Amino acid sequence: MEQQARQPKRARREAAEEAVAEAVEPSAQVVQAEEDNDEPGITRLERLCATVDQKGAGISKADLNALLDHGIHCVETIAFMPLRKLHEVKGIGETKAARIHAAAKQLVPMRMVSAAEMLQLRKNMVQITTGSAKLDSLLKGGVETGQITEIFGEFRCGKTQLCHTLCVACQLPISRGGGESKALYIDTEGTFRPERLADIAKRYGLNEEDVLENVTYARAYNAEHQDKLLAEAASVFCESRYAVLIVDSATGLFRTDYSGRGELADRQQALNRFLRKLQRIADEHGVAVVITNQVMASPESGPAAYMGPQVKPIGGHIIGHASQTRLFFRKGKGETRICKIYDSPSLPEGEAMFAIDAGGIVDAPEGK
Ligand SMILES: Nc1ncnc2c1ncn2[C@@H]1O[C@H](COP(=O)(O)OP(=O)(O)OP(=O)(O)O)[C@@H](O)[C@H]1O
Ligand SMILES: [Mg+2]
Repeated sequence: MEQQARQPKRARREAAEEAVAEAVEPSAQVVQAEEDNDEPGITRLERLCATVDQKGAGISKADLNALLDHGIHCVETIAFMPLRKLHEVKGIGETKAARIHAAAKQLVPMRMVSAAEMLQLRKNMVQITTGSAKLDSLLKGGVETGQITEIFGEFRCGKTQLCHTLCVACQLPISRGGGESKALYIDTEGTFRPERLADIAKRYGLNEEDVLENVTYARAYNAEHQDKLLAEAASVFCESRYAVLIVDSATGLFRTDYSGRGELADRQQALNRFLRKLQRIADEHGVAVVITNQVMASPESGPAAYMGPQVKPIGGHIIGHASQTRLFFRKGKGETRICKIYDSPSLPEGEAMFAIDAGGIVDAPEGK
């Protein structure tokens, strides 16, 4: 991905230069054309080159490059950041920062809404099918966009299989439970398999090549690298429409890189920083962020100890507070698995059985 991400950056610089050349004499037509180029949920940075009268900030090519170099690739990022953070961009003075911030907030309105309006917005929210109708109905539609969903459970319980299924399902039309968008997969364990995507594409009758093209893959080698990849992810999300960001697993590398007893506080701090960035991505780009997490034995005493092995997710409160919906997967008989809602702001407690087959996550066969 590093390789791929550098290329668009150059391309974006060239596009930016063209846009600036046009913005010197901005006409209503130019601004209109640029508006048309915006993909849903992405407001191109070049829009800030238009004059203040034209809803821009009148910035120059050098300013645009300074923003790009700082890792800011679309107007949404600016609208969601506090003004003081914009002061950190080299070469952008306080007055200009204020002008840019004001323009961004105008282009990406963040106003108060009534609960009724919020309900309407939530009704329009895209949910991505998991591949199993039973699991979707437990989740009241599927995996929500614009929030973090955590899946935790023992090895072989289907976490990675669900991640693969979502990468394909998000490409389906909205009427079939998709988001008509791409997926980005950050793999920390080396378990991503494009062959699985091809199998899942077959199940949905999608063109295998197209499906593979629409999944951007990045392997993270250590916790620091995993964190850096999010900056690249933000730039990728400004290039085209993505519906899903997978991090499989979110905690594994933090566990191995900060393994000493004395490093626990540092680990939690680094993990917290990472999760906050994920939340920002979910907010800014409206993608469904799906993270996986392992479990560790929890030496519970009392009656629970008789109900089989007790496990709890890794990461403690930090990860618990960061993810809106937490799903606990466990093994059932054969290829079946059980998903339990562990925590959610809107879903009642409940369980659903599903299965894993060649086509990814599917409904469990009748009678299981
Ligand atoms: N092509 C396939 N057809 C049917 N089942 C498959 C296929 N590929 C993998 N599986 C099943 O998926 C299960 C592994 O699930 P998965 O890799 O999602 O586990 P996980 O929860 O990610 O585990 P870990 O914690 O080790 O990463 C295995 O039981 C395996 O048999
Ligand atoms: Mg896995």
